Amino acid sequence: MTLPTHHLNINDPDFIAKPYEQLKTLRKEMPVFRDEVWDKVFFTLHADISSLLKDKRLGRTMLHRYSREEIGWPPPDPKLAGWRSYQDNVFMDMEGESHSRIRSLVTKVFTPKKVESLRAKLESTTHKLIDAVEKNGKCNFVSDIAEPLPVIMIADLLGIPEEHREMLRPWSGAIVKMYELGYTDEQINEANKASVDFMNLIGELANERRKNPQDDLITDLVQVESAGEKLTENEMRATAIFLLNAGHEATVNGSALGLMSLFQNQSQFEIMKEAVHQNNQALIKTAVDEMLRYETPLPMFERYVLEDMEINGTQLKRGEEVGLFYISGNHDEKRFDRPSELILSRQDNPLLTFGLGTHYCLGAPLARLELQVLFSVLFKRLPNLESNGDAVFSKGFVIRGLTDLPIKF
Ligand code: HEM
Repeated sequence: MTLPTHHLNINDPDFIAKPYEQLKTLRKEMPVFRDEVWDKVFFTLHADISSLLKDKRLGRTMLHRYSREEIGWPPPDPKLAGWRSYQDNVFMDMEGESHSRIRSLVTKVFTPKKVESLRAKLESTTHKLIDAVEKNGKCNFVSDIAEPLPVIMIADLLGIPEEHREMLRPWSGAIVKMYELGYTDEQINEANKASVDFMNLIGELANERRKNPQDDLITDLVQVESAGEKLTENEMRATAIFLLNAGHEATVNGSALGLMSLFQNQSQFEIMKEAVHQNNQALIKTAVDEMLRYETPLPMFERYVLEDMEINGTQLKRGEEVGLFYISGNHDEKRFDRPSELILSRQDNPLLTFGLGTHYCLGAPLARLELQVLFSVLFKRLPNLESNGDAVFSKGFVIRGLTDLPIKF
């Protein structure tokens, strides 16, 4: 069957802010379509996306199976050399043996116990951030609270000294611009420079830790060994950077979009307030998952088709790229009861927000804990919390978030 073609302008600010109606129509009328502008086959249904994420015939790269020549890929673009020195060592973009080797080494040091040990620090940091704005009676939730909290937490966890922290956000911001569909030469230059500077900084810190080990993840990544396997120098540097970037980008956006959705659904806002007041941890947990379903901070991921295949009636050819709209799967009426409603007590919630399968988010427990603590402290400390103006979306769909969410209290 020939696939219908359709072009979705995902970078249109209106689509970024409110993609739901368009995605709903697509789910109904053409749940799988070819977009010739982006040169991808897009999938919008929860069932299709879930199957594809568990299917070994797709991957985040093809280079574990084929040489560039075999699949007709041009040599790597020399313009992106700086960025590639980092990105080529990021295990999220690997498949097969390299991916599982690095992922299992990281899992060995980034443990649930380590995450849980952050709870007290998370609470005290959130209190401090609120202390800093409380007397003003208002602030920008994004820049004053949502952004600094995960940055502080992940920088602490890795062991980045205070004097280097101000560069983390700008470096990370420049690097992740390369994940958007479409970028400028200026953005390429910034991403190259940020990658090289960041890789050098982690190299210096790792050398210090070799001489003087500390209780932090950089030390762990330098030392970790499993079944005779270790990380190479570049893998260690890139893994540390990736944890720093992945460890805050989506969490900032998840908490800001989450609070925005509570403002837009006042009955649920009241339920959240009451849950915090009664210290109802079970409800706070389902609420955080529901906010992350309802407004998905990382709405679309891609995969390569590794061999000719058929999936739920759709034929895909080796070398094609598929785009998986997790944000659409999260609103699929075939899978969710009343998907367009925010229901904080939702129990059956197989959200795609953290992915599925071999690349399932390693930081999901940390992200969930951060949001649970943040919302608990926020509602406890600011009983008169309310919206103080319109939310402003940042540019870019692939990393979807807010620059402004004015609040008063
Ligand atoms: C709300 C916050 C977060 C969201 C929405 C999120 C989402 C995701 C998603 C969707 C993936 C899979 C990508 C794919 O399917 O191709 C992923 C992978 C990953 N995430 Fe997260 N993430 C969040 C927070 C974090 C945090 C806090 C960390 C670490 C400190 C983290 C570390 C990772 C890592 C290491 C991977 C790669 C796993 C692999 O390839 O094996 N994430 N994340």
